[in-house]
Amino acid sequence: MPRSVADQSTAELGGRLSVLVRQKKDHVELDRLLRRLREARGEEQDEVLLSIYRLVFPHAFAEEAVLWPVMRRVLTDGQDLTLEVEQEHQEVNELVSQLDRLDRSDAQREPLLDRLTEVLREDVRDEEDELFPRLQEALTLRQLRWLGVMWEVLRRTAPTRAHPVVARRPPGNVVAAVPLTVIDRTRDLADYAARLSSSDTTTSALRSVSAALGRGAERIEHLPLMRQGEHPSTRVPSPAE
Ligand SMILES: [Fe+2]
Ligand SMILES: [Fe+2]
Repeated sequence: MPRSVADQSTAELGGRLSVLVRQKKDHVELDRLLRRLREARGEEQDEVLLSIYRLVFPHAFAEEAVLWPVMRRVLTDGQDLTLEVEQEHQEVNELVSQLDRLDRSDAQREPLLDRLTEVLREDVRDEEDELFPRLQEALTLRQLRWLGVMWEVLRRTAPTRAHPVVARRPPGNVVAAVPLTVIDRTRDLADYAARLSSSDTTTSALRSVSAALGRGAERIEHLPLMRQGEHPSTRVPSPAE
């Protein structure tokens, strides 16, 4: 029976460059943020949520673009294993899109936050207890380190926001990565500057820029090219469909 990566040391997982060690580090940080989310209220809760999004979306995008295709290649049951986590990622994207549309005082917010916490925890357990021990059996330590570098490069340059419409699989998600990363990271800068600005006019101008970019991202997501490779179970229908 393969051991969970949660119970293994850094050396056993292949050292600090290994994808398994890098994954575990992010999962520990996610656990810390999810605990804080339960206690935070008001503006502080929004800040914690934002930190969760900035951690989770590039992390998962890089998994879908680099790790799961390798799992499908090297494991006979790779299709089923990866589909389960892709469905979890899809649910996270949809939950966050719903949360983004709600006011802080909306009664639907708490149940959505509860479900978001639950799915994120399930995703970590599935990866650490099932997927990664199987990947560890199938690859050499050298391959785990090489995959770690690839995953890290992508994680640092991936989109930072929820994109429920874009494919969870290559080639769609890989094609979408460039325009969505540019848009998301520009929006992050605009939102950050808006929070720091002391002028109401500047703040509202920056918020308008961010909202316009958000609408642009939505249009890009619906392009057929960005949806190629999607499994039917994680596909969100277009308004035209
Ligand atoms: Fe992960
Ligand atoms: Fe994940």
